[in-house]
Amino acid sequence: MPVLFKKAPGKIILFGEHAVVYGQPAIAIPVTRVNATVRIFPNLDSDQADIRLQAPDIGIDADLESLPSDHPLETAIRLTMGELQLDRIPPLTLQLTSTIPLSAGMGSSAATAVAIIRALSAYLGKPLPPDVVSALAYEVEKIHHGNPSGIDNNVIAYQQPVYYKREHAIEFLTIEKPTHWLIADTGETTPTLETVSAVQKLLTNDPVGYGDIIQKIGSIVQTARSALIAGDLPGLGQLLDENQRLLEELEVSSTKLDILINAARNAGAAGAKLSGGGRGGNMIALVTEENISAVESALIEAGAKRTITTLLTPREDR
Ligand code: MEV
Repeated sequence: MPVLFKKAPGKIILFGEHAVVYGQPAIAIPVTRVNATVRIFPNLDSDQADIRLQAPDIGIDADLESLPSDHPLETAIRLTMGELQLDRIPPLTLQLTSTIPLSAGMGSSAATAVAIIRALSAYLGKPLPPDVVSALAYEVEKIHHGNPSGIDNNVIAYQQPVYYKREHAIEFLTIEKPTHWLIADTGETTPTLETVSAVQKLLTNDPVGYGDIIQKIGSIVQTARSALIAGDLPGLGQLLDENQRLLEELEVSSTKLDILINAARNAGAAGAKLSGGGRGGNMIALVTEENISAVESALIEAGAKRTITTLLTPREDR
């Protein structure tokens, strides 16, 4: 039996991915149906190394020292010990499992870091608050893709809907009217590093043209903020579709994403777009209680590997 376990949820970006890297706002919500879980067991056998790391999903069963010093899991542990000002800790095994799809836009890397930091600090008797957890997870995110905006670590560490803009105080959204979201996985994966670098290249080659697209995405996010709070379905639907069109111009959609997005729209979704880095991964559709089953069936028929429903509700309902 583990003596302690902690979880961290997945996330979806509703509006503003990629543009958020360049200082525009974005909106993201946690998805608690999927999560990264860290269990910690004491190692009573004193011959064991201080920390044994087991992550069966990615084939790791190793002593911490044997991992490269820039390994994200090693970094999350080292940063936590640094924050707690500990050089040595009682021998332990840290076991990581996750139901969040990898490289699919749902925050798997940030959730893994957050779960490790939460579990290890709690196990060592000094649970860290969300702002510190988020800041440490951000450092780990830098390993995954050099220039993360910081939205993933924040929405996951705070587990609340966020309106996020780099270098600005994080804003938590107080939702007034619930909205239903369907998430569908293309089954294709592309690391965020790759799509963020591709967009960076476009911007370097044509700063005015692509800068304009980035700004237009930012304007959509500003309008979407109040539409989301009010649960304005037609307004949100239109903004999702406009955001998707601009993401297509940034060349981060894919044939499979386009197929799923069209299938959702044709089956009655108010709007749909890719979510996260793109070029595969997940798409999202705004649905209602009445059409959710029809849209879900259409997505499966169109080739979605899995669907997840998530209800964004006022805080007291969560
Ligand atoms: C990744 O979830 C979202 C991106 O905007 C990258 C980032 O914000 O760091 C593509």
